[in-house]
Amino acid sequence: MLELKAISKGFPGVRALQDVSLTFLPGEIHGLMGENGAGKSTAIKIAGGIHVPDTGDVVLNGRRVVFRDCREALAHGVGLVSQELFVIPDASVAENILLERWVTRMPGVIDWHATRAEAVRQMRRVGLDVDPELPVRNLSAAQKQLVQIAKALTARASVLLLDEPTSCLTEHEVTKLYGLLRELRATGVVLVFVSHKLEEVFALCDRVTVLRDGRFVGTRETSKLSPAELVTMMIGRECNDDHLGRLAPDWSQPVLQADHLCRAGKVNDASFTLHRGEILGFYGLIGSGRTELARVIVGEDRIDAGRILVRGEAAKIESVRDSLYRHRIGYVTENRKEEGLFLHDSVRMNLSVAVWPRLRSGLLRAIGVEREEQLARDQIASLRVKTSSAEQAVGTLSGGNQQKVSIGKWLAADCDILIVDEPTVGVDVGAKQQIHQLIWDLAARGGKSLIVISSDLPELVRLANRILVFREQRIVGEVRDIDTAKKTYAQVSAEIAPHFA
Ligand SMILES: Nc1ncnc2c1ncn2[C@@H]1O[C@H](COP(=O)(O)OP(=O)(O)OP(=O)(O)O)[C@@H](O)[C@H]1O
Ligand SMILES: [Mg+2]
Repeated sequence: MLELKAISKGFPGVRALQDVSLTFLPGEIHGLMGENGAGKSTAIKIAGGIHVPDTGDVVLNGRRVVFRDCREALAHGVGLVSQELFVIPDASVAENILLERWVTRMPGVIDWHATRAEAVRQMRRVGLDVDPELPVRNLSAAQKQLVQIAKALTARASVLLLDEPTSCLTEHEVTKLYGLLRELRATGVVLVFVSHKLEEVFALCDRVTVLRDGRFVGTRETSKLSPAELVTMMIGRECNDDHLGRLAPDWSQPVLQADHLCRAGKVNDASFTLHRGEILGFYGLIGSGRTELARVIVGEDRIDAGRILVRGEAAKIESVRDSLYRHRIGYVTENRKEEGLFLHDSVRMNLSVAVWPRLRSGLLRAIGVEREEQLARDQIASLRVKTSSAEQAVGTLSGGNQQKVSIGKWLAADCDILIVDEPTVGVDVGAKQQIHQLIWDLAARGGKSLIVISSDLPELVRLANRILVFREQRIVGEVRDIDTAKKTYAQVSAEIAPHFA
């Protein structure tokens, strides 16, 4: 049994947790929910040895424990699978998994054969299907997360703390992870599962605890709770999920066309047309080629064959800079932890980096600090970024608030064409609605053209007028008239299902 007793934790300018007491039992999957910045990650980081509480105790099986770091926590059987990626990028997958528990024949000598075998066993268990010798830096975010889980399992953790573990997993990986967690539950492991997804919490968790603004709201049995009640606990009001409305694309104005684009192993003969005022969904599972196609379009990756046309003219896009400043195509990456943000810099700086050329005064070539500050204040307010000030380092914001900054940066950049990759992964219900509304307004009122890449089909049904279906690096299908025919999620998923049969 793991208990947090009267925990308080502050960071400069913010009280992340205030007098929070939580009890997690062995043999249960315990959901931890709440809006962005509610203190979920902070709570499990305290239990997992990353943070030391200001006041209060962590009690493990009746004994008070103080962990100096996450290694010490793991040595006591408390494994943390975090939103931040606690992996060593240059070490191999096998090394990362077995870091804390070398399989040695002689002290100090590493038995690579046994190490590899053990790593492969744990990798299979979590469904990680890659070469164990591969450096971890070559893995996707989803795979890096599976490495963390495999590592905790290898250490025989009796407590497993998972921070939004499914936010970047494919459907298949999610099913596999659920199976694994249920298996661990049966063996009496304490499982804490931070999530923003209601379906998931109801499908998987026995009990759920809600935090709001660093305070404990309540713990309930999921079988005795309705989704609406849970949302109300989290945000203090109800929310709805309908289609945002009818878009009015100008079909006579193609703004972006892909003409038989190819890139070996990544993009296979992709053709599509994006029109002015349109929201085009790219639906598919992670790894189906959606992001790869986006990267080719914005010049991040080279094209092997085919053409791109921007506003009707053949375009040679050689870099992201080129794409942004010459063609006014912005790209909000899914990989915000690694590429999207400057984590050590302030919220203000991150919000304005894409607009520097616009903010610079011609003569002085200096950045107009006042304009930059004004812009940052506007974006923070409209996206409701929870930050102590515009000067707070982005890396210290909660995960969902980092996502808002990442999106806000591009909205400020004022592009004509915007490609948004998984815009609401890790974002709470309230913020998700705000981001959806922002995206929809850009197209419906701002005349912008958007591509929204998402593995969240309900999200695309709510936003898009058309969805392209991706599978195995190809566009395999298309769903039209989603907004005009008011297609429901059930109808769209029925149309898409044959492509995955
Ligand atoms: N290292 C840090 N330095 C400063 N402030 C921090 C730090 N870590 C967290 N905070 C702040 O503490 C508060 C709680 O953050 P936390 O990461 O626990 O939220 P969360 O519930 O996990 O949110 P999300 O759903 O967005 O991941 C936030 O206001 C955040 O900005
Ligand atoms: Mg978090």
